[in-house]
Amino acid sequence: MVEKQNIITIDGPSGAGKSTISKLLAARLYYTYLDTGAMYRVVGLMVKRTGLDLQAANSREKLVQLLDSFDLKLAPGLENQETRAFLNGEDVSETIRTPEMAMVASRVSAEPEVRTKLSDMQRVMGSKGAIVAEGRDMGTVVFPDAKYKFFLDATPEERALRRQKQLLEKGQKVEYEEILSQIRKRDQDDSSRSLAPLKPAADAIVIDSSEMSIEEVVSFMLAVIEKR
Ligand code: DC
Repeated sequence: MVEKQNIITIDGPSGAGKSTISKLLAARLYYTYLDTGAMYRVVGLMVKRTGLDLQAANSREKLVQLLDSFDLKLAPGLENQETRAFLNGEDVSETIRTPEMAMVASRVSAEPEVRTKLSDMQRVMGSKGAIVAEGRDMGTVVFPDAKYKFFLDATPEERALRRQKQLLEKGQKVEYEEILSQIRKRDQDDSSRSLAPLKPAADAIVIDSSEMSIEEVVSFMLAVIEKR
């Protein structure tokens, strides 16, 4: 049984600052940070590498086989770094963090088999102790009993700017317009899918971070947590 006071969920669209804020919040509280987007990206990479066509008639069986046999591990990144992700022992941390892999992850995340498998894994990870779980459906589907639920939002334009800066820091130069249109497309896909669509839980606190600094958002969250 997962102790609900041990779980904080942070959901929201891509580029809203979830990763940075979740990592900081987890560090301040000595909680473990769970980056569920990385898990969808790893599954996306695996599907891409095997060349599985999800539209094909016999793809279900193959997808289930793949999901039954793969080994996925997450490890905390060193200070300020993103979660390290391992697929069958191979470090794929950099490979999964490209705009292309984001789109592939979004695509596979609409598959029921993928959602069931990863949600189960996430609940197991959550059962081990205090976590800050970041994703799209943490507060709505995976940890509906979490004590603290936040939904972090920002305008698509602000998110595209932040994402562009982030990619530049990693040496990836991508046009602002391209990022903005990818963000809009992913928002649309993530929010309109029938399974676990991106939306705030009824009891989540929605934060629009467009005009807020990272520190302001983290302080606000800590204040909410300390008050309850
Ligand atoms: O947070 P991210 O950009 O790394 O997530 C990549 C994709 O994975 C995102 O477009 C939707 C999907 N995802 C999801 O469906 N549910 C989650 N809990 C986390 C991510």
